[in-house]
Amino acid sequence: MTADITELKRQAAEKAVEFIQSGMVVGLGTGSTAVHAVRAIGRLLQSGALKNIVAIPTSEETAHEAESLQIPLVTFDTHPGIDITIDGADEIALNLDVTKGLGGALLREKIVAASSRRFIIVADHTKRVTQLGSKAPVPVEVIPFAERPVADYLRSLGARVEKRLEKGGERPFITDENNIILDCYLPPIQNPQQLAAAIRQQPGVVEHGLFLHMATDAILATPGGIEHLTRS
Ligand code: A5P
Repeated sequence: MTADITELKRQAAEKAVEFIQSGMVVGLGTGSTAVHAVRAIGRLLQSGALKNIVAIPTSEETAHEAESLQIPLVTFDTHPGIDITIDGADEIALNLDVTKGLGGALLREKIVAASSRRFIIVADHTKRVTQLGSKAPVPVEVIPFAERPVADYLRSLGARVEKRLEKGGERPFITDENNIILDCYLPPIQNPQQLAAAIRQQPGVVEHGLFLHMATDAILATPGGIEHLTRS
């Protein structure tokens, strides 16, 4: 990844953090873009510019990062509603539908997003697509017992299916909820709603990486400046 892209990710994430106010319950996303938001929140809490923030992380990785920055973490048991969640994406369509999950945290990410009043996607401009499926696979989280029938079913929907492996390894990638991920490579998706509904029909599918009608905002950092898109 070039230094420029890293810088754009940081700019997008830090812009989104400007929408957080003291006293809010914040959802903390996962990935190389969202981590910049977590770090910015940590700094603002340390400096006293933000006060009384509590947060719900979308992965164990993010929980560790937040703990190292002394961001107070809570759960849905005590805080069932989240004011703002800031998270990255793998693809962003013009209507703010996104694909997520290349980092493997899509299940908790979708649970957190669904409980959020405002769900802000942060990304560099390379994530923008005209149709989902153009650049990234759709990750599907599956219980290990169901791997074969789910893989066969996803193939019947037209996907080339690859079981996700640990980075640089040969062992299966295991999610925070002890499931596997089947990455589905598809042609550009004409009807994401229809595909999402079809994927859900198969027993053993826990969740998929199509986040449709969920994002309220997208903050895209481009070489020409920041673009703030809102769902119309
Ligand atoms: C994590 O599971 C993902 O959904 C990430 O949010 C997504 O993959 C974007 O990650 P980057 O910001 O690292 O590109």
